[in-house]
Amino acid sequence: MSIRRAVALGSGSYLPERILTNDELSKTVDTTDEWIFARTGIKQRHIAADGEWTSDLATKAAERALDMAKISATEIDLIIVATATPDQTFPSTATRVQHNLGTTQGFAFDVQAVCSGFVYALSVATQFIETGKVTNALVIGAETFSRILDWTDRTTCVLFGDGAGAVVLQGQDGNGTKADRGILSTELRSDGTHNELLYVDGGPSTTGTAGCLRMRGKEVFRHAVSNLATIGEEALVSAGATSDDVDWVVPHQANHRIIEATARKVGIPMEQVILTVSDHGNTSAASIPLALDSGVCDGRITPGNLLLLEAMGGGFTWGAATLRW
Ligand code: ACO
Repeated sequence: MSIRRAVALGSGSYLPERILTNDELSKTVDTTDEWIFARTGIKQRHIAADGEWTSDLATKAAERALDMAKISATEIDLIIVATATPDQTFPSTATRVQHNLGTTQGFAFDVQAVCSGFVYALSVATQFIETGKVTNALVIGAETFSRILDWTDRTTCVLFGDGAGAVVLQGQDGNGTKADRGILSTELRSDGTHNELLYVDGGPSTTGTAGCLRMRGKEVFRHAVSNLATIGEEALVSAGATSDDVDWVVPHQANHRIIEATARKVGIPMEQVILTVSDHGNTSAASIPLALDSGVCDGRITPGNLLLLEAMGGGFTWGAATLRW
């Protein structure tokens, strides 16, 4: 049976030039490179320059994805930017990216699911493509978390960084089997009970300010491992696949220990996990497309590979997708 699939044509990513190492951070907050690396696997993160906005990062990642996909911005019907750090409260960062790319074709909007944002956006774009409403979609995860960190709070400021990643999706016909290229399944969940474990203490309707990120790390860690393993398995079942079919796991890059514990639970060896957390830190919605693009560009991810994408973030929100590259 022929069915419409959202097939990935290309990926792209962008990291701001400025690198902030653990050693440099340890000069401004009471921490050490040893503590950060042992607890998280992070060695450094990238920080956006003054005047460099989330839309700037997103646009550069999008341009690279369009280059790889060999299609022009004017052929894109839908742009979704997953971000929790938009340029402005409104309009959406996606409409600015659309403008930066020099197109007025189709429509553009943001998705806000914090660290799960890219998987949410991928799922939304897939629905539009599978119904035939959209042919070509650009899905971007982009963040400037450095702007919502309390740089005096060592329990949070050491964990996050800035960056962007993008994927171009195109509607193509498949056979409806797990051998098809494209997105084979997406699973999304949320549970608002745990707002106080991970949140930003500001916003337009509460304080009128952007606020700073607050987190109870230990509790978040515990929820992350159990939710990620479960949703990953559910996405595999929806695709008619098992962990043995997976070539690469492309996880949200929050913490090396979360990634390791989740991979163990799902039964996939760490040799098949794309890791970028040491170089980027946690870039929230950007972290999956950044990791994906690094695996594609260094030749580990090749056409036909089955990928398992999984993420969890504030809300809580969590989600997973299977994608045959
Ligand atoms: N440097 C040195 N010491 C620190 C630092 C730091 N940067 N941060 C905290 N400490 C201290 C604490 O004060 C505490 O000291 P105490 O024992 O004297 O009170 C000690 O280190 C242990 O702190 P814990 O919070 O218990 O450390 P833990 O092993 O839980 O690691 C961490 C903390 C890394 C935040 C971990 O809980 C974690 O990664 N949680 C997941 C959070 C996350 O990744 N969130 C991102 C968004 S959600 C997501 O993406 C999945």
